[in-house]
Amino acid sequence: MPKAELHVHIDGTLQPSRLLDRAAKHGVDIPYRSVEDVENAYDFDNLQSFLDLYYLGTGVIRDEEDFYLLMLDYLSACREQHITHTEIMVEPQSYLPNGVALETLMSGFQRAIDEAKAGWGQSVVLILSLLRHLPEADGIEVLEQAHSTYSDRFVAIGLASAEVGHPPDGFAGLYARARSLGYRATAHAGEEGPAAFVTDSLDLLGVERIDHGVRSADDPALIARLARERIPLTVCPLSNVKLKVFENMTDHNILELLDAGVRVTVNSDDPTYFGGFLNDNFIALHEDLKLSREQATRLNRNAFEASFLPEDVKAALLADLDRYLLEHPVR
Ligand code: ADE
Ligand code: ZN
Repeated sequence: MPKAELHVHIDGTLQPSRLLDRAAKHGVDIPYRSVEDVENAYDFDNLQSFLDLYYLGTGVIRDEEDFYLLMLDYLSACREQHITHTEIMVEPQSYLPNGVALETLMSGFQRAIDEAKAGWGQSVVLILSLLRHLPEADGIEVLEQAHSTYSDRFVAIGLASAEVGHPPDGFAGLYARARSLGYRATAHAGEEGPAAFVTDSLDLLGVERIDHGVRSADDPALIARLARERIPLTVCPLSNVKLKVFENMTDHNILELLDAGVRVTVNSDDPTYFGGFLNDNFIALHEDLKLSREQATRLNRNAFEASFLPEDVKAALLADLDRYLLEHPVR
């Protein structure tokens, strides 16, 4: 199927071979010598143990060519995986402290996006993702900086990084400002943090979408609300198993959420770190949870419907999906 992905961090698409060749290029000392060394490090106890490696990866991405290649590698994977539309989180706070200018990052990313659009009609939306382990004031500063030059590139803001200890109520000012500037809004919540963080993200931050949100299941009233208000959850199955949010894929609650009427979607989060791109997530659900073609189609349609695209573009991509499904009927 043509697919949409709504939850992917560009830094989470860094290939191990790129990590090594960029580290060598810039003379950054990293504790790995081979692709195998890097892959062996992809064994995480929780979100923080992953983030430590993830921020080591961002430390080797420094010039325009690095950002171009990082984006082009991911968009090439989208082409292979038939991800016709993707909404990508960009996190400037991972780079600015290394002396990288916002212009460097944006021009490298934009060069790759322009090539992918011209080359195979790739549809891309960028989300300015702020880091919650840093002060809210820092996030607001980055928002203002991005808005002053790149207001036409970013469609939405998001909130990522360590959830526990960094609750949503600390970011109400950031979200109020972003929404007043016309940005759409999403936030990570209910990944490692409690269901209350999902409720607070909706009520205090005014988000339209929740990234992860699987722990909403601890609060039946919240589940009923998510279903009633048609609030999308961007669920990341392989990520959740890798970061031990669920012990095994067979324990994952995505199909229960879908059955409860919640607008769930499937996403890869940080595909090179978690063992698979979007198709691999669908395949894992099929193998371990007996995901049917009908369910896969419903999850994917939810993703197009929950996208931050303008309504006319969304309608055109949904028409492409419908055309594909007519030509490839579910047996
Ligand atoms: N940044 C990248 N991946 C993340 C995740 N799964 N949760 C929070 N922040 C992240
Ligand atoms: Zn994420």
